[in-house]
Order: sequence, then C-alpha cells, then structure tokens
Amino acid sequence: MSEHVLITDDGPVRTVRMNRPDKKNALTLAMYDAMAAAIESAPQKPALHCLLIAGAPNGFCSGNDIGDFIKMAMGEGTLGAPILRFLHALACCEMPLVAAVQGNAVGVGATMLMHCDHVVAASDARFSTPFVGLGLVPEAASSLLASRIMGHTRAFSLLVMGRPLGAEEAKAAGLVNTVAAADAVEAETMKAAREIAALPQQGVLASRRLMRGAPDEIVARIDEEAELFKTRLRSAEARTAFEAFMMRKR
Ligand code: COA
Repeated sequence: MSEHVLITDDGPVRTVRMNRPDKKNALTLAMYDAMAAAIESAPQKPALHCLLIAGAPNGFCSGNDIGDFIKMAMGEGTLGAPILRFLHALACCEMPLVAAVQGNAVGVGATMLMHCDHVVAASDARFSTPFVGLGLVPEAASSLLASRIMGHTRAFSLLVMGRPLGAEEAKAAGLVNTVAAADAVEAETMKAAREIAALPQQGVLASRRLMRGAPDEIVARIDEEAELFKTRLRSAEARTAFEAFMMRKR
C-alpha cells in the first residue's frame, strides 16, 4: 500500500483518494498499485456498492510522475506493471465509478475519468492530456473512449492538439456531469455516489454491464496503446520534453 493513496469505506461508498499534494498527485508506481488494489478488492466487501475517486484538495492528478517516465525510458523501456494493472482494473471494474475533480486533471488524471460513470468537477477544474506534446501517445483506452464520449473532432483537439478543457467545456463534451463550487465538489460527488448506491444493486450492475459491453475491446486498446507508449517513451521527442519539464524551474 502507498502512503499517497487513502482508502476510506463509508457505508456503501469506498473513496480512493490520491494524496500526494506536494507533487499535485503525480502518480507513482506504488500509487497505481494501491489504487488498483482498492478497485479490485471492492467486490469482496458486499456492503460496498460504489467507488469514488478523488484527489487531495486543489489538485486532482497531474498524471504519471515524469521522473518515473524518465527512469522507464532509461531502463528497459518497459511500462511499469502497476500502470497496466490500474488501467485494467478501471476497465474491468463492475462497480459504478464516480469522481470528484478539483484543480488540474492531467494525462491519466483526465483519461481515468473516461472510465467513470459520473463525474463532478469544480468550476476551476482543468482537463488536459498533453501526451503528443510530450512525444507520447494517448493511454487508458482514451484513443477509443474520448471519441465515443465527445466525438472525434473534440477528442482530437484534447488528445492530439493538447488543448485543455475547462469545467464547463468538459461538461458540454460529456466528460463531466455536474459543475460545482470547489468547496461543494466532494459533497456533491458523495451525494451522487450514495444515490447510485441506494438503487437496487443487481439492477445497477446489470444495466451498467449492458451499457458498457464486455471490457475486452477496452483492455485490448489499453494494451495496444501501451506498446506504442513504450516505444515513444524512448524517443528523442519524449526525452527532450521530459528534460524541459524537469529543468523548467532551474
Ligand atoms: N511528475 C512529476 N512531478 C510533477 C508532476 C508530474 N507529472 N506534476 C507536477 N509535479 C511536481 C512539480 O515538479 C513540482 O515539484 P517541485 O515543487 O519539487 O518543483 C510540484 O509537483 C508542483 O508542481 P507545479 O508545476 O509547481 O504546480 P502548478 O500548480 O504550477 O502546475 C500542473 C500544476 C499539474 C499544471 C503542472 O505541474 C504540470 O503541468 N505538470 C506536468 C503534467 C504532465 O505533463 N503530466 C504527464 C502527463 S502524460
């Protein structure tokens, strides 16, 4: 378990909170593992009916830790197993997923939301996926899911051109359900989670399964993207972009 991920079970809702505020919740391999374990183990506790993903206040998630990307690129060029474990856990999760977004949701911080069933965002939330600018390719099956959610042209603008979405734009694009004041986001999200959890559970699970279909296609896309991602991590384009990020304050 990672000290940077807090798991709280409160009645029918499990909250999975990224808690590395000094790095804006950049995800480490240990954090991916802890989040995956929290998602995978939820069905073992029958009282749980809904999962809520949140960040430490003022920042949802700044994406993968760029220092880890550099290590992966300089090492064997493999993508850490915990990253794929987390992405597969999201894709295969049967329990409804809701998310509370404050501040920045960058990279996987934004693409994990494409697996959620209900997203509440603070009015100052900002969603961005700067993969291509970093010399990388989209991940978490976002190359499939973003177009389904918002249509190809908006998905292209977000995923390839790297143009961020504000909270209202994300709502118009279908990524977000509700925009709330920053200090009301968590309560609003918990309200939605409890609303879902109060419904007949088997009816929710069966309906969700029908709406999402089997996860095979999404898992296959995650794996296909990961293969390309590994190659791109070692590219000169990526190295230059990572070094620029690490050096930007010096
Ligand atoms: N990996 C590693 N460290 C990160 C990080 C990341 N993805 N995102 C932020 N950090 C670190 C910063 O280096 C900084 O560390 P320092 O205080 O030791 O210098 C700290 O978190 C705070 O970040 P800062 O940039 O000062 O905060 P901000 O509020 O000005 O900006 C972001 C927040 C998220 C917009 C900005 O940090 C950012 O763009 N991060 C990179 C996002 C990214 O490209 N992720 C990969 C996507 S594939």
